[in-house]
Amino acid sequence: MSAKDIAALIHPAIAIAFVFPLIGMVVYFSLQTRQRRLAVVAGDKSKIPPTVGPEHLKLGRVLSGAVVGLTLIGLAYPLFTKISANQTWNDEPLRIGFVSLIYLATIASLLLLYRAKPKLWRGVFASLTGMGLILLGSQPEIYRRGFEWYISHYYYGIAAALLMIFSLAIVQDIYQDRQNRWRTVHVVLNIFAVLLFIGQGFTGTRDLLEIPLSWQEPYIQQLYEQQCQTRSCTVQPDEASESQPSG
Ligand code: HEM
Ligand code: HEM
Repeated sequence: MSAKDIAALIHPAIAIAFVFPLIGMVVYFSLQTRQRRLAVVAGDKSKIPPTVGPEHLKLGRVLSGAVVGLTLIGLAYPLFTKISANQTWNDEPLRIGFVSLIYLATIASLLLLYRAKPKLWRGVFASLTGMGLILLGSQPEIYRRGFEWYISHYYYGIAAALLMIFSLAIVQDIYQDRQNRWRTVHVVLNIFAVLLFIGQGFTGTRDLLEIPLSWQEPYIQQLYEQQCQTRSCTVQPDEASESQPSG
């Protein structure tokens, strides 16, 4: 495999080896947290230790950063490879400068969100982190699968990352709200997040199947250009302009 192919595997490998096991642990502690809280409210003695809530929070904070980080890596790969292949900085130096700045600003906003305590700053840094991801994702180098947005790895991924950022921003509110409204909001949104994560497992592996190894790329390109799924054709990548569909 070439260096480019190995680089393409960094994002899926981190997702599978690090982020998905973490999701499992966070969900496990979340169920224990809820079970224990409901038992205590009902006046029962729970065998679940009181540490499960803080454990859920500790791993949840790691998960938020991991998902945003994974999203940034997923976006960086197509941005970097396509910009360097097309030497886009010659034609659009301003946009490339802007994209690099937004990338750094998104990381900085996330780090500041981890430190922010007052509601206002949590809101500001959560919004900035989310906006950064959306701006990076809106660049023409990103394949968003707009024609099938409802099964798009991009849209699911950005939505999941936004939900993780939101979870991080409302931690204090969950603890301070005696009526548990923020807790309920958190649970409902994160059940949806878990569905999105499962969706990422499906759409990510599908996308891996669709992306060819770099030596295969010119051949596969021909399959699309000649619409070989609808008619028989001859693939001759080196003389691309001369090759004609035979069917
Ligand atoms: C897969 C994602 C997640 C799921 C499914 C999830 C689910 C839950 C559930 C079911 C509870 C218990 C609610 C109850 O007591 O009724 C909970 C509590 C909580 N969650 Fe999450 N959560 C997730 C991610 C996160 C993240 C990323 C954070 C923070 C960064 C977070 C912070 C909290 C906090 C602070 C509590 C209250 C814990 C306590 O009572 O001590 N969660 N979550
Ligand atoms: C929490 C889980 C995940 C999140 C948040 C996530 C997010 C993203 C984002 C935002 C992109 C850039 C947009 C795009 O090209 O679609 C991306 C690309 C990609 N992801 Fe994921 N992803 C996750 C898990 C996975 C998994 C499990 C796999 C495969 C096993 C995977 C494979 C890919 C591939 C192949 C690309 C395309 C890179 C390219 O365009 O060259 N992802 N991901």
